[in-house]
Amino acid sequence: MEEELKKIQDGFAADTAQGLDPQALRVKYLGRKGLVNDLFSRLAQMPAEDKAAWGRRLNELKNSLDQSLKEKMAAPAVFREALDLTLPGKGVIRGSSHVLSQVSRQICSIFEKLGFEVIEGPDIEDEWHNFTALNFPADHPSRDSFDTFFLDIPAVSVSAGRHLLRCHTSPNQIRVMEKNKPPMAVISPGRVYRPDEVDATHSFMFHQVEGFAVSRDINFSHLKGVLFHFAQGFFSAESRLRFRPHFFPFTEPSAEVDVSCFKCQNKRPEGKCSLCKGKGWIEILGCGMIHPNVLEFCGIDSAKFQGFAFGMGVDRIAMLKYGIDDIRLFTENDVRFLDQF
Ligand code: DAH
Repeated sequence: MEEELKKIQDGFAADTAQGLDPQALRVKYLGRKGLVNDLFSRLAQMPAEDKAAWGRRLNELKNSLDQSLKEKMAAPAVFREALDLTLPGKGVIRGSSHVLSQVSRQICSIFEKLGFEVIEGPDIEDEWHNFTALNFPADHPSRDSFDTFFLDIPAVSVSAGRHLLRCHTSPNQIRVMEKNKPPMAVISPGRVYRPDEVDATHSFMFHQVEGFAVSRDINFSHLKGVLFHFAQGFFSAESRLRFRPHFFPFTEPSAEVDVSCFKCQNKRPEGKCSLCKGKGWIEILGCGMIHPNVLEFCGIDSAKFQGFAFGMGVDRIAMLKYGIDDIRLFTENDVRFLDQF
């Protein structure tokens, strides 16, 4: 009897280790024709003095198997499966920051290494910071509701004007210059908004990085040197820049800047380069020397201090860098797109 009891215990342990289904185990061990009942039926043939003790032991065995099976039934199916340590691991799926955040950070970090400080501004602006202090005349077309999202929030003061969603990051120049004394060098990333019709290259919301520096004796060469350093760090060590005269109300003189095509290396293979379309140059930003009026609006003496400023579109630069052909991909949140960065 002792031996049979042990056999049942060992058998049960071995069957469980193999991962046999608890339901099948119950039939095999505790069922009407199961192994434990078989031992009970042998009790009848035992000497009278042993019956009680063996009866107790068999009952204990029955209860312990029953308890163990109940626990197994309660466990989720996955734990009931045999553990196969040879299976390959599942791996951890790691997320990453959005490609626009990555590009924006890459841009800012190049300027940070030059001593620029990152300072962000608010998405909700007022007319003073977005236009007036940036030397936009009162009748400038950008102030039209076709070109700017105006908000239905009461104005703080007459001079602050209406509230709006900023249409560029240049108002951060004003916010920083109003609060600080030169010298200063600031880089300011952020989201901007314009009521544009959405297509492959336009969106009602996109991203810019603004940069500016104000000090004594700042001139256009400083601007060129800083932008050249940026282009070589961000695009390619061979990058060259081309400055084309342009107009912005808040800078004088102003320029638009093109970088030599980093795909065909400015070799202009007659319309064959898909990036620059054979032009050899790609427009990347606007810049200039901060207009004296802007400095004065911020309480900075324009006879003593000068500054340069520049602004670039992060979405556009990310599209150029990675060959992305539709700006809408950035906000559709398709994991197949996002996963690539
Ligand atoms: N704010 C301009 C825009 O959104 C970009 C720009 C141009 C920024 C020239 C500047 C600048 O700081 O100097 O189109």
